[in-house]
Amino acid sequence: AAGPAILPSLLQCDFGDLRTEIEKLTVAGTRVLHLDVMDGHFVPNLTYGMPIVEGLRRHTDMPLDVHLMISDPIAYAQPMVDAGADLLTFHVEAVDDCVEVAGKIRDMGVGVGVAINPDTDFAKLDCCLDSVDMVLVMSVNAGFGGQQFNPVALDRLRSLKERKPDLLLEIDGGIKAETIGDARAAGCDLFVVGSAIFGQHDYETAINELTQAMHG
Ligand code: DX5
Ligand code: ZN
Repeated sequence: AAGPAILPSLLQCDFGDLRTEIEKLTVAGTRVLHLDVMDGHFVPNLTYGMPIVEGLRRHTDMPLDVHLMISDPIAYAQPMVDAGADLLTFHVEAVDDCVEVAGKIRDMGVGVGVAINPDTDFAKLDCCLDSVDMVLVMSVNAGFGGQQFNPVALDRLRSLKERKPDLLLEIDGGIKAETIGDARAAGCDLFVVGSAIFGQHDYETAINELTQAMHG
């Protein structure tokens, strides 16, 4: 996707009416969807798996950016690809060898991202920066929506942008009008937003406000 993009996170949406949610997001100008997959083990929260991804795939042509907050990403990577994921992001905390995991996902024919939580040693990412298409810099601890933005993410974005200018950078957690401008200035390309969209009555207004704030 060309230029920065706001990715609605399907976590606090109406799961009883996903078709309408997708329609509303499409009308609001969404180009990519962010899907939060949690296993109740890597994080203390449980969401959804392949059947929901596959169901969404039938309702939209938008790329599906799947954020795997699960302990064993390789066990579910191929099923997620088969279900329609376009990009799979695993957590660096969940794996022993991130280069190997990234390579296996790449061989499945999709984009690959690596995510890092705010409290994790940033140096853990060093070894896999050449093996991924995207880094997901978490600005909250993975697991729940509606948490407070942690500014350590801004330093991390700046550092990554300087070292690897061509790497796609995504931020996730506490992104709203007050924080999105700083993240953009730090070099971020993809902005995952949960509460600041789904907590609003009108998604189009919410996304327009975020877009304006992003451009400062
Ligand atoms: C948190 C998820 C996020 C979450 C963000 O673990 O990865 O995608 O939905 O929600 P907000 O924007 O409310 O922080
Ligand atoms: Zn996410």
